[in-house]
Amino acid sequence: MSPVSKAEKAFTELHGHAPAGVWSAPGRVNLIGEHTDYNNGFVAPFALPHRAAVAASPRTDGVLTVATLGDDGQLQAADPVAIADLAPRTMSGWAAYPAGVAWVLRENGFELAGADLVVSGNVPTGAGLSSSHALECATALALLGLSGREVDQPGSPTRPEIARFVQRTENEFVGAMTGLLDQTASLCCVAGHVLFLDVRSGESEQVPFDAEAAGLEVLVIDTRAKHALVDSGYGDRRSGCERAASLLGLPSLREITDLDAALAQLPADLQPLVRHVVTENARVLSVVAKLKSGRLDAIGPELTASHVSLRDDYRVSCLELDVAVDAALSAGALGSRMIGGGFGGSAIALIRAADRPAVEQAVLDAYAAHSLNPPRLFAGVPSPGAGRDE
Ligand code: GLA
Repeated sequence: MSPVSKAEKAFTELHGHAPAGVWSAPGRVNLIGEHTDYNNGFVAPFALPHRAAVAASPRTDGVLTVATLGDDGQLQAADPVAIADLAPRTMSGWAAYPAGVAWVLRENGFELAGADLVVSGNVPTGAGLSSSHALECATALALLGLSGREVDQPGSPTRPEIARFVQRTENEFVGAMTGLLDQTASLCCVAGHVLFLDVRSGESEQVPFDAEAAGLEVLVIDTRAKHALVDSGYGDRRSGCERAASLLGLPSLREITDLDAALAQLPADLQPLVRHVVTENARVLSVVAKLKSGRLDAIGPELTASHVSLRDDYRVSCLELDVAVDAALSAGALGSRMIGGGFGGSAIALIRAADRPAVEQAVLDAYAAHSLNPPRLFAGVPSPGAGRDE
């Protein structure tokens, strides 16, 4: 059963009536452009078929109730909260995400009369595939929809505006200083494409990405090594980048035009961070140019170079990610890289479809040889972004 049907069914069982609507939003794979978003750079994600679904009905008493359907099929209900009382950093755990969205909408002047939400999802959690953003984006569409602002209809905020709201939820309510990549991917991606986004200008472009037609696949390797963005590694990298930009007298690292000259002005500890960001932006542009000229099979070197840069310069990889990438490449992948924030989570490998069994076996064997728990492997197919389902 899909998350949408599960959420709808669980809602009806819990509340004794069908929900007013069901909205859902996907997790994402970032094809390339890692740790560039909060540096005003370029990213190129696509949406996964895995989604978070929110079945919702309005209330009139200003209260938000949220229940989530666990993997065991059991509903787990969070304590009801008065939307007027929501405040940043006062909640933790999964319920902070939907509550944080209600908070940010309230802060932006949207009247919310209260809502009952029931959540179901199949985006792997802690896998660097943006399960929390999928939940936040689906919640945002549900709460806006219940208040008469259906996404894409006149009077509703635009998808990029909703992405900004969700970013504020993460940064201020949850306390994770993430950029705009994940929310924008979940809200703005369309099936069969990667979303080429220039974070500085906010301009984006849908770039066709049909791996199947090229005889290729994007294999997603969820290492099952948990990552958490509120841990210090992510924030340290981000503040290092901000420090470097300020030493260079620039608004962000995006404004660097001469990498060598910039590096010469920076202390040794900041140089690798800056080198990663500047070279990664260039790799995004190169990948997008190749995709636009129909050379999907030629992007492998940029993917692998991105991994090397994230591993050696940005230093956000880990054993599980490196083992996955090395095994995939040695079994014939055209390119492979860690994706997302790092320190665990997932990697991708661009492979010939015919090589899939061999690549999967190579990754599993390498994990066994390192005494690591087996990873979860699945094909990443560019899928639709967030929307209303029922
Ligand atoms: C996480 C964050 C994103 C982005 C990536 C790294 O997924 O949520 O904003 O910074 O890490 O590219």
